[in-house]
Amino acid sequence: MRRVGLSPVVRSADALGQILSPEQNVCLLRRPLPPEVERALVGLSELESFERKRVVASAADLGWLAEPLGPERASALLPELGRWLTTFRDLCGEAPVTGHVVVTRQDDCRKYHVDWVGLRLIVTYAGPGTEWVPNEGVRRKSLQAPWRNLASINRRIVPDTGAVMTARAGDVLILKGESYPGNSGRGAVHRSPPIAESRGVRLLFKLTLPGAGCQDPHCTIEHADAR
Ligand SMILES: [Fe+2]
Repeated sequence: MRRVGLSPVVRSADALGQILSPEQNVCLLRRPLPPEVERALVGLSELESFERKRVVASAADLGWLAEPLGPERASALLPELGRWLTTFRDLCGEAPVTGHVVVTRQDDCRKYHVDWVGLRLIVTYAGPGTEWVPNEGVRRKSLQAPWRNLASINRRIVPDTGAVMTARAGDVLILKGESYPGNSGRGAVHRSPPIAESRGVRLLFKLTLPGAGCQDPHCTIEHADAR
């Protein structure tokens, strides 16, 4: 009997555990932005861009990451960050986890790519979310092809733009990277959404289970962080 694959889009936080299934490399929890967070983020566009990053083991670590948001925004966001840290640690076991809080106005990683990490959780709290592509929409052999023109190489990697999925503000996206055990050659393909032209601003929270870096000496991929 043909096995029916799991949907990468889930409606319950408990279902995020599906990412541990060997055939899954993406799991996205679709949910609305919590109202208390949405209220607290009014006026975010007046804040300077910043990025904070550290290994997170406690609520104090999360508080440090969120500090540049200001006390009111940080206190509204901290229960959320703690919730997803607990969820992510349940998936990762005892391994150290790195956290990022980022406010950005740049088009960060516009080329479709995979990350050389184990697992990565991304929540976009303001602005457009990360774009990702199901495996059947990706020509993987083009991921490492040399390139000069961004639009052209992206068309080679993802010929049908109708295959592209976009996370929304509030969604919780978990991507399985190339370094996850058993996932070599199947890293989740994704890229950042464009915001620079529209002068948009994004607020992101990321958690990363690191993995071995890319070992290919001929690799031409820009291994920037996922956004
Ligand atoms: Fe990435």
